[in-house]
Amino acid sequence: MVRIMFICLGNICRSPMAEIIFRDMVEKAGRNEEFFIASSATSSENVWNGVGAEVYSPAKKILARHGLSAAGKRAVQLSPADYGKYDLFICMDASNVRNARRILGGDPEGKLRLLMSCTDRPGDVSDPWYTGDFETAYRDIEEGCRRLLDSVG
Ligand code: 4NP
Repeated sequence: MVRIMFICLGNICRSPMAEIIFRDMVEKAGRNEEFFIASSATSSENVWNGVGAEVYSPAKKILARHGLSAAGKRAVQLSPADYGKYDLFICMDASNVRNARRILGGDPEGKLRLLMSCTDRPGDVSDPWYTGDFETAYRDIEEGCRRLLDSVG
């Protein structure tokens, strides 16, 4: 069992998209039993009194356009205890890596990665919060998830 935590700043756009896209790929590959998949935020911005925000509506729309549902997903913040509960922490951009490392108290076992690092276009996932371009973000995340699935298990 490989336990994967996808991470972004708010857990309402990029990392929920990665969680949902990766889970769909795993299901379609018939590999459900091999993975436990989740996503979380480095920021507490989208969690109020323990209740997380739903996935941002433009992200929901782009997922729906690709036949995927974000129903039920609520934002959660990454916590220090997660370090022992997951094998890989897959970040959407370099600032997520820095912030996740701070929250997790370092990365002694080398579990932190950038999603795009396993593609031919290493770097950050295009951030739709600033670009408004959810299709490009989807394309980046889909490519990263496909390469990630090929490379693990
Ligand atoms: P995400 O997008 O990190 O992909 O979920 C963002 C969500 C919220 C904010 C920034 C990015 N924000 O500044 O509140």
